[in-house]
Amino acid sequence: MEEESEEDPHGHITSLAVRRSHRRLGLAQKLMDQTARAMVECFNAKYVSLHVRKSNRAALNLYTNTLKFTISEIEPKYYADGEDAYAMKRDLCSYALQNDITPADAKNTSR
Ligand SMILES: CC(C)(COP(=O)(O)OP(=O)(O)OC[C@H]1O[C@@H](n2cnc3c(N)ncnc32)[C@H](O)[C@@H]1OP(=O)(O)O)[C@@H](O)C(=O)NCCC(=O)NCCS
Repeated sequence: MEEESEEDPHGHITSLAVRRSHRRLGLAQKLMDQTARAMVECFNAKYVSLHVRKSNRAALNLYTNTLKFTISEIEPKYYADGEDAYAMKRDLCSYALQNDITPADAKNTSR
């Protein structure tokens, strides 16, 4: 979880990788969905963000088509080798609604 208190509570993915021999089995999708669930249930996260290389076709497919992230901005020369990054976000409010996930604050107020 990110710490900046003035913003909505949100998570940030710093790294995601699946061993080569185990790719295309749905593991990254499962990991990302379970992480999203935990962020909502434990911390009431409103969205999750990440950066991805513009050239990373596999990851871009995963984030955009499968997990419904959207590009929030382009960060020029984000990586040490000079490549640009897409900054991406996934709305966890609609994800929680669609999947019947109860956010942390709603749980607390019903006790
Ligand atoms: C990106 C990565 C994490 C995907 O892991 P994975 O477990 O193979 O992904 P999944 O099996 O959950 O894939 C889900 C969907 O993502 C897309 N996808 C995944 N790998 C893809 C590829 N090589 N080419 C095109 N689309 C791909 C597909 O839409 C896939 O659904 P499908 O298999 O039904 O077509 C993996 O390729 C990896 O570890 N890459 C190296 C590290 C990396 O780039 N991490 C991301 C940095 S931001």
